[in-house]
Amino acid sequence: MDMTVNVRDVAALAKVSVGTVSNVMNRPEKVSSATVLRVQAAIDELGFVRNDAARQLRAGRSRSLGLVVLDVANPFFTDLARGAEDRAAEEGLTILLGNTDDNLAREAAYLDLFEEQRVHGVLISPLGDIGDRLTRLRARGTPTVLVDRQTEDRSFSSVAVDDVAGGRLAARHLLSIGRTHLAFVGGPSSIRQVVDRLEGAREAVAEHPQSSLEVIETEMLSVLAGRAAGEGILQRAPGDRPDAIFAANDLLAIGVLQALNMHGDVHVPGDIALIGYDDIAFASAAVVPLSSIRQPSELIGYTAVDLLLREASGGADFTHEQIVFQPELVVRESTA
Ligand code: RIB
Repeated sequence: MDMTVNVRDVAALAKVSVGTVSNVMNRPEKVSSATVLRVQAAIDELGFVRNDAARQLRAGRSRSLGLVVLDVANPFFTDLARGAEDRAAEEGLTILLGNTDDNLAREAAYLDLFEEQRVHGVLISPLGDIGDRLTRLRARGTPTVLVDRQTEDRSFSSVAVDDVAGGRLAARHLLSIGRTHLAFVGGPSSIRQVVDRLEGAREAVAEHPQSSLEVIETEMLSVLAGRAAGEGILQRAPGDRPDAIFAANDLLAIGVLQALNMHGDVHVPGDIALIGYDDIAFASAAVVPLSSIRQPSELIGYTAVDLLLREASGGADFTHEQIVFQPELVVRESTA
């Protein structure tokens, strides 16, 4: 591959015009197959690579979409990215992935970067209140769709799961198997998904006067944070421990399970039932297969890109949609 070779060198070797080389690369249907073969042979012989930056400037847009997620280490978001990639690939587009790690400055930096890259549009699982920022971004020609977030602002499209319903579903399931002292493990409370799931759990517990719900806030939604929460519970006298734990996502639940499992005399679900959220692949593969609240993560990503492409194509009849999928209870050994 020789980055110094340019389109004029290819045209000279193939004995065609520069315009014909451009047509072979962008509109081969307009060129005879013999000429396509001759130009392609010249490209291969010279090791020519098209300069996408120049094409982007001419075309005004890159062939990419920007996706900004909270935590790229969480399989929920990589599954979401896979769905987004599948829909983007149908249009010959690619996905540029940015990870905010719950950091507002990083979120802002990725929005700047993707705008400078002239991406077709941005999908974002927002951290802070960036509505005004996204409105300005769209006014400058970069549409955005909120993923994994519901919005009351009808000027944005969004794709999410009803996390309040998901929290309610998890807690009702624990109550239905006779548990009465529930603990919600999750945090930080700055993350809207966590707040909504806890709200749903509180609603379910309120339906059962003899039951209780305590909150064990964590600094992150990670396996390590879950393990620390589990170890904290084990330091209590058995009579002071919850008989069921709802973890705000599966990574936390896996960490709690590791802690409880390492402590020989606590049995899941016998002593403490455990349910997570997302239904990532590791949930079913856990040493005690985890019950979880399933999110259609790939479908969320696929649908969000579909909405974005419809908005970017600028159809006069386009209207923004706020799509909300319903969560699904998946019962496994950890609550059986
Ligand atoms: O990253 C925070 C959590 O919110 C993820 O586990 C997933 O559940 C998302 O909705």
